[in-house]
Amino acid sequence: MQDAPDLLDRAKAVLEANDCGEYTMPAPQLYPHQWLWDSCFIAIGERHVDIERAKMELLSLQRGQWQNGMLPNIIFRNDPHFRADRDFWRSWVSPFAPDHVATSGITQPPMLAEAIVSVGASMAWPERRQWYRQMWNTLLSYHQWLYSERDPHQEGLVLLVHPWEVGLDNTPPWTSELANHQLPSWIRALQTLHLLGLVGLFRRDTRSIPVDERFSTLEVLAMFDIQRRLRRKAYDTSKILDHSLFTIEDLNFNSILVRANEHLEHIAKSIREDIPPELSESIAKTREALEQLWDPYTGQYYSRDFITHHLLKEPSIATLMPLYAGSISQERAEQLVKLLENEHQFGPPYPVPSVPLSSPNFHPKRYWQGPTWVNTNWLIIDGLRRYGFHDHADALTESTLEMVDHSGFAEYFDPNSGEAAGGDNFSWTAALTIDLIKSNKT
Ligand code: GLC
Repeated sequence: MQDAPDLLDRAKAVLEANDCGEYTMPAPQLYPHQWLWDSCFIAIGERHVDIERAKMELLSLQRGQWQNGMLPNIIFRNDPHFRADRDFWRSWVSPFAPDHVATSGITQPPMLAEAIVSVGASMAWPERRQWYRQMWNTLLSYHQWLYSERDPHQEGLVLLVHPWEVGLDNTPPWTSELANHQLPSWIRALQTLHLLGLVGLFRRDTRSIPVDERFSTLEVLAMFDIQRRLRRKAYDTSKILDHSLFTIEDLNFNSILVRANEHLEHIAKSIREDIPPELSESIAKTREALEQLWDPYTGQYYSRDFITHHLLKEPSIATLMPLYAGSISQERAEQLVKLLENEHQFGPPYPVPSVPLSSPNFHPKRYWQGPTWVNTNWLIIDGLRRYGFHDHADALTESTLEMVDHSGFAEYFDPNSGEAAGGDNFSWTAALTIDLIKSNKT
């Protein structure tokens, strides 16, 4: 990339501006707290700039870990200004929540193992082993929690209880499930009385971002309603399962988990730690179980309903994540790459769209319902390299960097025009730009 040095400096400036000391805000106005998978992506880029700062980004996640091992998707700022956010979650209703910080009560994709290994790769061996040891208990107890709490039938696939856990908040497989289940009466009443527009006026996110680039107000209310139900059950999965509207074995999450487990095994070996036998068994099961999400009729992977075991045949960016998992056959990987090459599916001028263009749900600027995001591109680039598609990986790296160079460090981008959408000065866009420039051949 011709402009790479300048792009690199601009990316570093975004991370610096969003740095709060202990952690980096995903975006100052929209997301002032610490988010789990954001910090992982941020550390992956930050390691090229300041290794100690990258370590701190991950170490600071430890303060939010619950006693049962859960890593929450949000650790809240301890600032009177944000009391409403903390009160909304009330993590203190759970006996497992930490005492000194308020957090959410749900998790996010398990990117931590990848981030630990990436940061470790920038160190010499003795320091790397020490680094692994510093993070080992956090990582091990998190993976143990994922299976003990979220895989109650020992199927190998971890279940999610809220769309925010997927990281792709309003992704179509989840929003279709939301629509298929009856909305609570208070939301239906607002809808019937045409009051959703009025409720929308109170939204903080749409003060700085056009409303058609975010969730619909109906989706937001439905998500708040699920969150309220989880809070009433003190975020205890066994209680939640008895009354949940729907629970999903999500493809994006479980694909990332397959890879995370591999990293966990690598870390354990490097520091001569034993992985408890139950966890090893679960790890092996997950690799196999991912294949149960394959649909031979459409030639794609999908998420699955935990109760009915029906595949949720709504295509989204998750379709391509088994490439990143790395456990699928070369033949399946080739089938996925064909979808990526198809201009009516995942191959517009600025790929990879979060929903294929052929889907009726596709909207070029609406959040996780069409736009291109840099973090999912990063995961796909990694997967393409693993399966030997280096030309595809180079091309995707180049189009990603070009898009960011022209449109700035946006939260997401229109896949047809490459234009910026959502918030700006977005940390993971900046961090992963740095990593793409530093780690990939273009
Ligand atoms: C949005 C994204 C989520 C991200 C968070 C903070 O909720 O959907 O993936 O972690 O913002 O950036």
